[in-house]
Amino acid sequence: MEEIKATEKFNSHLQKLILEINEHLDIWLPKIDEDKCSTLHKSCRYSVLAGGKRIRAALAVLTGRMYRADDDALMRLGCAIELIHTFSLIHDDLPAMDDDDFRRGKPANHKVFGEGMAILAGDSLLTLAFSWLSSLCNYNVSCEKTLAIVREVTEASGHKGMIGGQVLDLEAEKTKPEPEMLERIHLMKTGALLKAPIRCAAILAGAPAEELETLSSFANKIGLLFQVKDDILDVEGNTEVLGKTTGADARMQKSTYPVLLGLDGAKSLAGRLSNEAKELLRHLQADSTELAQMVDLIYARNN
Ligand code: IPE
Ligand code: IPE
Ligand code: MG
Ligand code: MG
Ligand code: MG
Repeated sequence: MEEIKATEKFNSHLQKLILEINEHLDIWLPKIDEDKCSTLHKSCRYSVLAGGKRIRAALAVLTGRMYRADDDALMRLGCAIELIHTFSLIHDDLPAMDDDDFRRGKPANHKVFGEGMAILAGDSLLTLAFSWLSSLCNYNVSCEKTLAIVREVTEASGHKGMIGGQVLDLEAEKTKPEPEMLERIHLMKTGALLKAPIRCAAILAGAPAEELETLSSFANKIGLLFQVKDDILDVEGNTEVLGKTTGADARMQKSTYPVLLGLDGAKSLAGRLSNEAKELLRHLQADSTELAQMVDLIYARNN
C-alpha cells in the first residue's frame, strides 16, 4: 500500500517535471518566424514538441537535485540533451537508416518536411544543443564545469557514443547477433545519451568523485536496460501506445536482444539489469529514491 502511494506520488511529480521540460523547450526553441529559416524552425519544433517521454531531461534534473544543483541550470542541461536525442530520432527514421514513417505518434519528420529538411533539422538541433550547453556559464555554472559538460556530451553524442553506436547498428543489420558486440551497440547508440544527463548533472552539482563513479555504473545498467526494453517492445508492444511502428527491427533484420536470447531471455535480462541498477544505487551517499523509481518506470514501460 505504502509502495503504491509512493509510486503514485512519484508519477505525479514526474508528470509535473515533464510539463516544465516541455514548456522550457517551447520557450527556448527558435520561434517559427525567427530569422529567415521558418521551415527549418517548423521542422525542428514539430519533432521536439511532438511528445516524447523526456527521460533524459528528467534524469538530469532528478540526479542534479540529489546534490542540490541549481534547477534552472539542470533544466538547460536536460533540454539540450533532449535536442540531441530528437536529432538522433529524426535521422534514425530516414529511409537511409531505419526507414520508419511514424515517430512520437505522428508522421516522421521526413514524411512531413521531406528528407532534405529532416537532415537539416537534425543538424540544426545538434548544433543548437551545444549553444545551450555553452550558455550554462550564464546559469552560475563555472566555465570549467561548463567545458567539462560540453566535453562529456560531445563524446556521448559522437563517434564514441550515439553516432558510433548507430554506425555499428547499421553494420550489424542482417548479421547474427554476437553478445559482446550487441552490448556495445546498445550501450553506445542508446546508453551514451542516457548516461550523459546523469554524469553531467553530477558534475554540474559538484558531486564527489566516488558518487560520480557509482552513478556512471548505474547509468550503464539503465542505458542497456532501456534499449533491451525498446527491442522487446518492438516485438510485442502496441504501435498506438508506443507512437512508432512495431516490427521495425524484424523488417530491417536488426541485431537485437530478442533475436540473441529469445523474447523470454531478453525479458530476464531486463529484470536482471533493473535489479543490478537498483543495487548500485544503494552504494550512493545521496538519497537516490527517485532514481530507483525511474528504474522501475523504465523496466515497466510500455511506450
Ligand atoms: C527512443 O527513445 C529511441 C531509443 C534510444 C530507444 P525514447 O523511447 O526515449 O523516445 P522518446 O523520447 O520517448 O520519443
Ligand atoms: C535508436 O534505436 C537509437 C537511436 C540513437 C535513435 P532504435 O532504432 O531501435 O530506436 P527506435 O525503435 O527507432 O525508436
Ligand atoms: Mg535505429
Ligand atoms: Mg529506429
Ligand atoms: Mg527500436
